Amino acid sequence: MAYATGVDVGSTQTKAIIIDESRQIIGRALTDTGANIILAAEKAFHLALDDAAVPEEEVEYIIGTGYGRYRVTFGNTQVTEISCHGRGAVHLFPKTRTVLDMGGQDTKAIRVGPDGNILDFCMNDKCAAGTGRFLGAAATALDIPLDQLGNTALQAEKAVRISTTCTVFAESEVLSWLGKGKKIEDILWGVHQSIASRSVGLLRRVGIEDELTFTGGVARNKGMIKALEESLELQLNVSADSHYLGALGAALFALDHIVSSRAPLAVEE
Ligand SMILES: Nc1ncnc2c1ncn2[C@@H]1O[C@H](COP(=O)(O)OP(=O)(O)OP(=O)(O)O)[C@@H](O)[C@H]1O
Ligand SMILES: [Mg+2]
Repeated sequence: MAYATGVDVGSTQTKAIIIDESRQIIGRALTDTGANIILAAEKAFHLALDDAAVPEEEVEYIIGTGYGRYRVTFGNTQVTEISCHGRGAVHLFPKTRTVLDMGGQDTKAIRVGPDGNILDFCMNDKCAAGTGRFLGAAATALDIPLDQLGNTALQAEKAVRISTTCTVFAESEVLSWLGKGKKIEDILWGVHQSIASRSVGLLRRVGIEDELTFTGGVARNKGMIKALEESLELQLNVSADSHYLGALGAALFALDHIVSSRAPLAVEE
């Protein structure tokens, strides 16, 4: 049995996926990218191998993606994350025509064709205001763990309108609303709405076509799913594997390579 691997080295977290020849996910792993990118890629790969219970020698082809893709030193080649998120999203949700990838540093809106080919894409320019980083700044200011942000925001009664468009000032705006006696839930819901409205702006630039699949780590945040769905008046495709869809796309490209490089069977005369 041959296996294929995708390693998505993001600015914030590194994801690895191992698939078998039937395109099933058999191993996955997630680790913080941190300062040592090469080490993070290796760690994610080995954790995914352990998860899949597959020996390293049986992995035939490895593709790196994400901002640190050239640091996947054990990889065979690299593919851009736009292509990988598109491919992964269409694999999991075949009717996907638009993809929203919200990561730690970047938010990308991608329009794809029926086989996951990229038709157009658009990403936030240097500013992290519509990304996971903005949420992270709010989480730090309010001293709430990242994985509880969304559920806390969902308890809001009335959103506080967040006016800052800069991550650097997000923390101080959140603190100033707290000082004015606003409830944490209401402030957080406002933060989610502000990020959602920026993402909708990006999506409109590529054109929103049904179905829309939400990928990246922020897709784990139920508050962000709701804020986006309300703002778009559309239901999003989200899966427990949404965070891994870039790595899955890379693994699928790796499997394509394995299959296409196999010598055709000799035909007996
Ligand atoms: N359990 C969780 N609950 C809520 N949010 C989460 C959770 N885990 C991760 N996140 C969010 O996802 C972000 C990381 O997402 P992801 O791994 O897609 O980013 P990345 O690929 O490293 O970044 P980029 O694509 O911008 O380079 C974190 O910054 C955080 O905001
Ligand atoms: Mg990413």
